Amino acid sequence: MKKTLLAALAAACLGALPSLAETPTKAPADPHEWWKHAVFYEIYPRSFADSNGDGIGDLNGITSKLDYIEELGVDAIWIAPCFPSPQVDFGYDVSDYEQIDPMYGTLADFDRLLAEGRKRGIRVILDFVVNHTSDQHQWFLDSKSSRISPKRDWFVWRDGKGEGQPPNNWASTFGGPAWKLDATTGQWYYHNFYPEQPDLNWRNPAVEAAMLDQTRYWYKRGVAGFRLDAVDTLYEDPDLKDNPILPGTDNFGRPRQDEIHNKKLPGVHDALKKLRKAADEYGAVLLGETWTSDILELKKYYGDGDEVQLPMDFMFTMVNKLSAPDFRKQIAAVEGAGVWPVYVISNHDIVRAWNRYGDGVHNDDVAKVMAALYLTLRGTPIMYYGEELAMENNDPKRREDVKDPVAQLGWPLEKGRDGERTPMQWDATANGGFSNATPWLPVPATASTKNVAVLSKDPSSILNLYRKLTALRRSNPALREGEYLPLAESDPNVLAYLRRTKQDAVLVALNMSAAPHTLRAGLAAKGVKESGACTLLATHRAAGSSLALDSIALQPFEVVVAELARR
Ligand code: GLC
Ligand code: CA
Repeated sequence: MKKTLLAALAAACLGALPSLAETPTKAPADPHEWWKHAVFYEIYPRSFADSNGDGIGDLNGITSKLDYIEELGVDAIWIAPCFPSPQVDFGYDVSDYEQIDPMYGTLADFDRLLAEGRKRGIRVILDFVVNHTSDQHQWFLDSKSSRISPKRDWFVWRDGKGEGQPPNNWASTFGGPAWKLDATTGQWYYHNFYPEQPDLNWRNPAVEAAMLDQTRYWYKRGVAGFRLDAVDTLYEDPDLKDNPILPGTDNFGRPRQDEIHNKKLPGVHDALKKLRKAADEYGAVLLGETWTSDILELKKYYGDGDEVQLPMDFMFTMVNKLSAPDFRKQIAAVEGAGVWPVYVISNHDIVRAWNRYGDGVHNDDVAKVMAALYLTLRGTPIMYYGEELAMENNDPKRREDVKDPVAQLGWPLEKGRDGERTPMQWDATANGGFSNATPWLPVPATASTKNVAVLSKDPSSILNLYRKLTALRRSNPALREGEYLPLAESDPNVLAYLRRTKQDAVLVALNMSAAPHTLRAGLAAKGVKESGACTLLATHRAAGSSLALDSIALQPFEVVVAELARR
């Protein structure tokens, strides 16, 4: 990549460009807050790389791709659950928190992954399913065995309202009621997700202690932190009050509910503080699955700096089209909240960014604009594997092809999450080079051109754009540390901003429209005295070309990142 960047330099403003020899290979940030300047990369282990030919990705597969991950400029990988599991929810139903599922490998494979990662400066984050276990976890088997089991109160058991009637009206996120009757003991247990995912009773101090210990077990092994799954579901109203009913129906055809009695209860924050304390014993980082579009709600998850460092900010995933005003508004909300921003554009539960932001015609161009957006903002970006290839959703066409039980329950309204979980596309060979067996989910035809091997060779590919962006984030002080200053705030098409420190400033201009537009950044009015800049990276012009800042003519979907003359 470095050579490509050098070759692209035009003569105009060479001097302003960072010397590539000086480009640090790792973010030189405060070691205690390394996560602030890190690029995270989510790996869905079933779908990343299959090393043993069973059609399912595994840990050795991930290890074999660490060079690729390093070259992409990733500092930490977050691996979706790889613990033993009946795989009802593909690992989000954990039957043993201290082992690796044989399908993914062994603890020795995991230790090797950690060690190989360490050599490359890549940290490993695991996914901690805090709200529930699998119904096959020994804790639940014990709990279920009798009403007087010492573990009975580790889960949420209640009598029904009457014959065949669950304790209240709470509904499972995955369809149907949130209660299941256990015929042996005659009581119901609560499951916010599938019946195979019984909710732990976090009000029981023994549960809390056991769960904190599970995190320490992995920290001691060398894990750099956890992504905390579904944290807003940890606590339920002890009186089990019915949720109020809202107008309309949901994807499963059920009346909608206002889930005030089983979501986002205040206890969540006490639990997060404790999880964070355990993490602090090991200098670990906590990412949270903190679903909310409300910035004040999101802010709560940071606590007083003593809860989650990186609540996964879904502010961008709430926007479903490329829109400069919409993104500007979301960024302003996060910036205005005085918190450390986290930017996510898709994950294993959300339709891929390529489909959500694309207009159906220019999706590949739009994917580049999105890459430039979340990798140049102030904050921590969390990528989803395949985003760097502009991978597309590949939804099942027929019910019989569906793997995700959500879609089996909700078909055809609910297509489930298979589409965004398809195998990583490595090369143009069979199955995208993911596996030499039939993959667990089909590889789309587009894999023949959208793959690592093909895109690596094309200097203007999205993959090389990602590599340049991550390298620039590391080498450029303004992009790493600088404040965010919005520009041209009423421009309906171009999203523009400065990132600046006292010494350095970088302008980012993103034309979010299919037509050419001229950006009038109005820098002078903002007290910025520079009138020229040097292009560091762009999609439609050469790096190293100089730029007059008062009026920048942008091509459709053009990305420009330019450094202002240094003060
Ligand atoms: C989270 C996960 C999702 C899983 C659910 C239940 O939302 O991201 O994939 O199905 O929790 O654990
Ligand atoms: Ca495998």
